Amino acid sequence: PRTTALIVAAGSGLRMGGGPKQYEPLGASSVLAQAIDAFLRYPGIDAIRVVIGPDQHAAYAVAIGDRPLPPPIVGGATRRESVAAGLAAVSGDRVLIHDAARPIVPAAVIDRLLTALDSNDGAVPVLPVSDTLAAGGETLGPVTPRAGLVRVQTPQAFRLAAIVAAHAAWDPANEATDDAQMLRAAGGTVATVQGDPALDKLTHPQDLANARSRMLVVRV
Ligand code: CTP
Ligand code: MG
Repeated sequence: PRTTALIVAAGSGLRMGGGPKQYEPLGASSVLAQAIDAFLRYPGIDAIRVVIGPDQHAAYAVAIGDRPLPPPIVGGATRRESVAAGLAAVSGDRVLIHDAARPIVPAAVIDRLLTALDSNDGAVPVLPVSDTLAAGGETLGPVTPRAGLVRVQTPQAFRLAAIVAAHAAWDPANEATDDAQMLRAAGGTVATVQGDPALDKLTHPQDLANARSRMLVVRV
């Protein structure tokens, strides 16, 4: 089957501060380029498409360097809209939708996702929750039992027709934080496979600092 990696990189990084985090330096390249390279290295990926913000062409060009990629797709005001813009430009059988803000993509996770996709419309990497979950505020609120809860990461793997239909059926009055919940809402089944802490999203400044120091350790 023909498989495309669709990387959404059109966000503005408000929680990180300091501009779109996906173009920040990381290791020998950038946050975005690290994610791209994982898919370039993976033998089963036939195409890579990147979705960027309308004012991000210059930062994108610097971040990807001389990597051989088709022109970027311009995204929208929300992640959901950026994915939809990307999906409109994808063809083939399968798509792996990935956040550029998750630069380290282990090949073993892609292996597990693509295997699960043989018998499901979608597959996502998950990890158990290890902290106590409770309502926040000035004082602590009620606890949500964490047993059975998981953290859902990307890449998320889908049969292309199924995720395109789920996006088309989604009520745009609601925002979705990922694509798997949209496929579920449309009645599709989403398999869970083991995720990886290396896939955790860079959201706050400390996340990028941690990723940089881990990379230094790996590169020594
Ligand atoms: N994203 C996107 N288009 C948007 C918003 C987000 O393509 N309109 C992408 C981001 O670039 C990121 C991924 O979706 O790779 C996950 O989003 P998030 O971590 O929330 O990134 P930002 O939206 O950039 O950060 P923030 O919410 O803190 O502003
Ligand atoms: Mg965001």
